Amino acid sequence: PKVFYVQPDGTERVIDGVAGDSVMSTAVRNGVAGIVGQCGGSLSCATCHVYLAAEDQQHFDAPSEDEDDMLDCTASDREDSSRLSCQLILSEGVDLHVTIPDEQA
Ligand code: FES
Repeated sequence: PKVFYVQPDGTERVIDGVAGDSVMSTAVRNGVAGIVGQCGGSLSCATCHVYLAAEDQQHFDAPSEDEDDMLDCTASDREDSSRLSCQLILSEGVDLHVTIPDEQA
């Protein structure tokens, strides 16, 4: 599956991801700017905040209570499309599109 990462300035990087990996770990491994993932995916940092494209939201359940709580701690404004990218797991055949916020910490 491909992940399309759009920076705040509109530049885009497309990464070939692996099913089972998260949008966060895929970004960190490939050096995508703006996704920090400080806590390594344990829902305790909110530095993996992204805005998930509207057309991709059908592929995921709503945020868990823990994710929802951490989403109140993001450095950039929380929006309806806000997710923590360590909780977005890639699936075979499902491309994803995320926009990276201005600030993570
Ligand atoms: Fe820390 Fe996602 S990496 S909450």
